[in-house]
Amino acid sequence: MMDTNFLEGKIVLITGAGSGFGRNMAISFASKGANLVLNDINMAGLEETQRLVLDNNKVEILLVQADISDLKQVKDMRIKTFEKFDNVYILVNNAGIDGGLYKSLAASPKVYDKVMAVNVKGAWNVTKTFHHRMKGQRNFKPIRGKIINIASCAGTESGFNPYLGIYSASKATLIAFTKLWALELGSSNITVNSISPGLFLTPIYKDDKTIKMLMEQRGIKLPIDRIGMPQEVADIALFLSSPAANYITGHNLVLDGGMTISVNKL
Ligand SMILES: NC(=O)c1ccc[n+]([C@@H]2O[C@H](COP(=O)([O-])OP(=O)(O)OC[C@H]3O[C@@H](n4cnc5c(N)ncnc54)[C@H](O)[C@@H]3O)[C@@H](O)[C@H]2O)c1
Repeated sequence: MMDTNFLEGKIVLITGAGSGFGRNMAISFASKGANLVLNDINMAGLEETQRLVLDNNKVEILLVQADISDLKQVKDMRIKTFEKFDNVYILVNNAGIDGGLYKSLAASPKVYDKVMAVNVKGAWNVTKTFHHRMKGQRNFKPIRGKIINIASCAGTESGFNPYLGIYSASKATLIAFTKLWALELGSSNITVNSISPGLFLTPIYKDDKTIKMLMEQRGIKLPIDRIGMPQEVADIALFLSSPAANYITGHNLVLDGGMTISVNKL
């Protein structure tokens, strides 16, 4: 099933697609035939993603530079999207920021506002702006659209992390919204799920020194003893997008090599 072009004729919108997981997902979705709307605040990153996608795939791509924390810019992105494409089948709320290594009560109001604005309000802005049109996609049966939120195991009960305080709370909120939106959109045959990655080397960590420092500080031993690969997140996003996952909704899929079930965790 995963070998077929199950996304042909479908549009995938990915936020934060100029780097990291977003880039891997763009390449993976295109490999299954999807046309893409790629968003980021960083245009150079988007152009590089576009180049990598087109290296091996013949798909249509719209690049939209927009800050998802600003509803006005997200509404402009909707206009641009529907000038080029008729709808969006998969919406991936991936863009996110870390906010630095502060305990939640030591974080500044500025960090609080910024992290919540991107990680929570940004996903809410995009979902709020795009879900109406997705609901109308009756020609796609049995599911009219899918929303995938990229949360974090730091937002799960066994992964709350005081060293990433506000970030941890923001991702817990995104997981709560995943379940709420699944309830709100289920009757329109739209599924909503989240992926909660553990430790993965992407530009959000700059280099693997930060990850190794975090692991040492917290005495982490990963049951599957290696840092995750961004492609593994893209593979799970593809699975959730595939017909095999049509009956899954409101689920938070933890992808952490067993970190959060271990006693030696972040
Ligand atoms: N790397 C990890 O280990 C890890 C673990 C758990 C969760 N995550 C989550 O995965 C998602 C992707 O992160 P990544 O690791 O690929 O990091 P990344 O920094 O490589 O990618 C994030 C992208 O989002 C973009 N972005 C930031 N603010 C934005 C805004 N306001 N509007 C639009 N785009 C914006 C950035 O420019 C960047 O291109 C994030 O939500 C992150 O919190 C990452």
